[in-house]
Amino acid sequence: TEGPMVDTHGRAVHDLRVSVTDRCNLRCRYCMPAEGLDWLSRDSTLRADEIVRLVRVGVQRLGIRAVRFTGGEPLLRRDLPEIIAEVAALTPRPEISVTSNGLALGRKAGILAAVGLNRVNVSLDTMDRDRFAHITRRDRLDDVLAGLRAAADAGLTPVKVNAVLSPDGGLDDASALLAFCLTHGYQLRIIEQMPLDAEHGWSRSAMVSADDVLARLSTDFTLIPDEVPRGAAPAETWRVPGFTDAADEPAKVGIIASVTRPFCGDCDRTRLTADGQVRNCLFAEDETDLRDLLRAGANDDELALRWRRSTWLKLPGHAINDPDFLQPRRPMSAIGG
Ligand code: GTP
Ligand code: 5AD
Ligand code: SF4
Repeated sequence: TEGPMVDTHGRAVHDLRVSVTDRCNLRCRYCMPAEGLDWLSRDSTLRADEIVRLVRVGVQRLGIRAVRFTGGEPLLRRDLPEIIAEVAALTPRPEISVTSNGLALGRKAGILAAVGLNRVNVSLDTMDRDRFAHITRRDRLDDVLAGLRAAADAGLTPVKVNAVLSPDGGLDDASALLAFCLTHGYQLRIIEQMPLDAEHGWSRSAMVSADDVLARLSTDFTLIPDEVPRGAAPAETWRVPGFTDAADEPAKVGIIASVTRPFCGDCDRTRLTADGQVRNCLFAEDETDLRDLLRAGANDDELALRWRRSTWLKLPGHAINDPDFLQPRRPMSAIGG
């Protein structure tokens, strides 16, 4: 019962993704309906001290080395700076990152960096203002752009930009996004859409595939496959000669091809939902409750043991490409990507 968590497929877990809220201030069409969803109640949501306690168990007993805060939109939690400050004070100190829609980064990047946040990934699917307003149902492109600038200024680097492309016009968006990211020193990653939307509207034919993206970007830019070993990272990367990032390293673009080139064999992740359930996979059917165990007064050993068991039972990978695939009950917005 010591050392990193492992599963029956020979993988070890070192990366924890914590969803701190299922709420969001955008309404991206591929994610949730205009009216939002049935949000978790305040009581069922972990408090800041409960999140920190579970992260501490992960870091001190279970081999977690990196912690990413996600949502919904994690910056909607006003106590996120306190959570990050306390996680940054843990020994050993994990790497701390955030995945955000960027709206609040203009206001909060400075304080988040000051309390210990290391880097941020920002979602942005188009550079076109009208298309942004259509996709997200909110006219807030300028806030995202200000958020990206503030993140870079605060040293939350490398700043990565995550894009899910729309079936109509998405490839044009990809080229415009790459031109923008190369100019500003951000690392663009194009993501294949997965069947995780709240309305179960995903279809393979409407998904922009990694091959589609590569074909298009290769006509507009020179791409050279990156030789650096990828490890457990979901993104495959290409170098773009002639451009450098904020740290003066060669510029890169990434593709996260979860559907057409699954990377589950190298997965090193475990997830905690905002209501304190461990998910051993994005696509897990079963969750493992830590919240009620914690609230019943369990000690660190008991929490660690239950978490370790969940990891042990991790499936070899997702079944998106199987004919009898069933979408998990919990949508992407409540898992945190
Ligand atoms: P980095 O440490 O910067 O590489 O972060 P990341 O790419 O792991 O995190 P991010 O939150 O930016 O994730 C970007 C996208 O990758 C998510 O929206 C998902 O689409 C996809 N992704 C992340 N983790 C997983 C995973 O475990 N499985 C699958 N299939 N996709 C994932
Ligand atoms: N498949 C892949 N990525 C998704 N995202 C949201 N829904 C999906 C999906 N079904 C992305 C968002 C954001 C990141 C956190 O997850 O666009 O960049
Ligand atoms: Fe890991 Fe599951 Fe994602 Fe595959 S789908 S990479 S197993 S979390």
